[in-house]
Amino acid sequence: MTTQTTNKPILVLGGTGKTGRRVASGLRRRGREVRVASRQGGTRFDWGDENTWERALEGAGSAYLVDSMSGGAASEMTAFAKLAVERGVERLVLLSHRDWVVPAGEEKLPCERAVRESGAEWTFLKPSWFSQNFSEDAFFRGQILDGEVVMSAGDGLEPFIDADDIADVAVAALTEDGHGGEAYELSGPRLLSMAEISGEIARATGRTITYRPVSPAEFASYATGRGVPEEFAGLLNTLYGWIADNRFATLADGVQRALGREPRDFGDYARATAVTGVWHP
Ligand SMILES: NC(=O)c1ccc[n+]([C@@H]2O[C@H](COP(=O)([O-])OP(=O)(O)OC[C@H]3O[C@@H](n4cnc5c(N)ncnc54)[C@H](OP(=O)(O)O)[C@@H]3O)[C@@H](O)[C@H]2O)c1
Repeated sequence: MTTQTTNKPILVLGGTGKTGRRVASGLRRRGREVRVASRQGGTRFDWGDENTWERALEGAGSAYLVDSMSGGAASEMTAFAKLAVERGVERLVLLSHRDWVVPAGEEKLPCERAVRESGAEWTFLKPSWFSQNFSEDAFFRGQILDGEVVMSAGDGLEPFIDADDIADVAVAALTEDGHGGEAYELSGPRLLSMAEISGEIARATGRTITYRPVSPAEFASYATGRGVPEEFAGLLNTLYGWIADNRFATLADGVQRALGREPRDFGDYARATAVTGVWHP
């Protein structure tokens, strides 16, 4: 990065979301100029409308990228990363995923390739499930309010990560040298089953919250009955199937490598969140 670039605004896509919001605050705390861009953000940015891209990139020296989660995400990312570099962006930090296992012939994580091939310095953040899904996502939070977590995740384990940790790594990667070319696998410090997650939130809130493991078909009908689109319920079933299979039931060391400290524990998240009242009907 040139000295000039380090004084330029930092573009934060998904800046109204679980990680982007925290990335924007963390950058502001470091005195950096931030441009939050999303459909509802300060600067209107829509992955589906290329006319909104130029304005978001104007004068930016680096960017935090959160994809659209749509079927077109990879081609959008390819076109956007290319445009970003043409407009002078030198550093891209991509919120990605832990490595999927994909059917033969399909490409794994094509958004990573788009960013890697853009010509910018890149860093990938590859997190496990976010703890904050249970407080900042309406569907999951609704289950906590109901006192029953319903998932087709069996008794599988997942190393939930705090979104504050993801944001701290993103802020470091956006503002410091030494993170270029790193793919940080990010997890919390403990493997947790959904029954244990429910127990942690129950203890923190003093409420009764239980876990009901269901079949994928039962989950689909439960979720669509609560207004979740069928396609998204199907995606959740796939992700829960991976938890049930313990596919990502390993701890990662990305937080430690990037920040030189341990990640936050789910129990700390649960206690800090319980006092805000978001889990009380
Ligand atoms: N949640 C998890 O546990 C988890 C775990 C691993 C990886 N991830 C990945 O993290 C990313 C974020 O997922 P999330 O569920 O946590 O969502 P989120 O960050 O809470 O929300 C998504 C963000 O993207 C913006 N956005 C959505 N569609 C957009 C569009 N068409 N154009 C521009 N901006 C758009 C939204 O803002 P507006 O509504 O204002 O546009 C919002 O700021 C996804 O790639 C997901 O696969 C999530």
